[in-house]
Amino acid sequence: MNILAFETSCDDTAVAIVKDGNHVLANVRDAQPDHARYGGVVPEIAARLHSEHWRGTLERCFSEANLAWDDIDSIAVTQGPGLQTSLLTGTSAASFLSLLYDKPVIPVHHIHGHVLSSLLDRDFADITFPYLALTVSGGHTSFYLCANFTDIQLLGTTRDDAAGEAFDKCAKMLGLSYPGGPIVSQRAEQGDRRAFKLPRILLEKETLDFSFSGLKASLYRIIETEKEQSGELSDEFINNVCASFEFIVGEIFTKKLERALEKYPEVQQIHFVGGVSANRYLREQLQVCADQYGAEILWPMQSAYCTDNAAMIAAAAYVNVQKNAKAGALTFIDAQHRLAL
Ligand code: KG4
Ligand code: ZN
Repeated sequence: MNILAFETSCDDTAVAIVKDGNHVLANVRDAQPDHARYGGVVPEIAARLHSEHWRGTLERCFSEANLAWDDIDSIAVTQGPGLQTSLLTGTSAASFLSLLYDKPVIPVHHIHGHVLSSLLDRDFADITFPYLALTVSGGHTSFYLCANFTDIQLLGTTRDDAAGEAFDKCAKMLGLSYPGGPIVSQRAEQGDRRAFKLPRILLEKETLDFSFSGLKASLYRIIETEKEQSGELSDEFINNVCASFEFIVGEIFTKKLERALEKYPEVQQIHFVGGVSANRYLREQLQVCADQYGAEILWPMQSAYCTDNAAMIAAAAYVNVQKNAKAGALTFIDAQHRLAL
């Protein structure tokens, strides 16, 4: 079953074709560098660029896969959550193409896509249930318990900022570019991880919730004090702040993962997914923690599957249709910027 998928929930116009849920035939993304100079996504710009670029991205996808409309069985699209005006390009395009080419359209929850991103280019048999999905992106930071590919229970989530957002804000405060994750991680490699003592906010004893706003406030104080005292930020200072920040995020995630594995001993596999799962240092830290509990940890097979992409949307659409054939019998999808999983 070949599924053509659209993902336009934020600032990337993405189109993919995936066979049988895990075999990626093409995964094309038109990034929007225009947001970099604002230090974050500007919704009006994102919406305009999506509507200008979706057709070109679709054509590139077909040509990369060397396929035509006759080869497509269904169309999948991110229904939400996300920026309403960005989502609208995907849902309108998918609904319109559904009528034009007489293909059913399947709505997908963006986070369900991230949770399924670890399946791309992997065998279904490599996944063991129940697994724990640690989904960390620019908009979300959550633990889910997955009894199977569609039965997904929220165990804990951030009470304020998402971890990716914290990486982006850290970069912005230091005058680095957007998105902040990759650059903070690169600068961290050259810094001293113990240079600054940042708060390891773990909340109440039992909870699997997260909080990153206090960390952001501490960073702000450290950076402003340095600006007052030295006038400008040296490379050494920037590298040390990035390293200390990444270190404390690693501590928070490993501590929470320990808690989750103690609370759910039946879990033998952890899936670290979402944009932040591209981070090498965090992967290493989580791997050490998983090893201590005898659990296996997986992350997406390519970094292009960590950040927003349409292949993961096709994977989630496929498992939805396998579970419920009615999910693949629609011709119109409305965008919902707030959507429960
Ligand atoms: O999943 P994603 O593309 O979009 C959302 O659904 O939000 O995640 C984007 C986030 C950004 O905040 C970006 O800074 C972060 O993922 N990110 C990283 C890395 N690569 C991307 N954070 C830390 N380390 C990275 N290597
Ligand atoms: Zn995302």
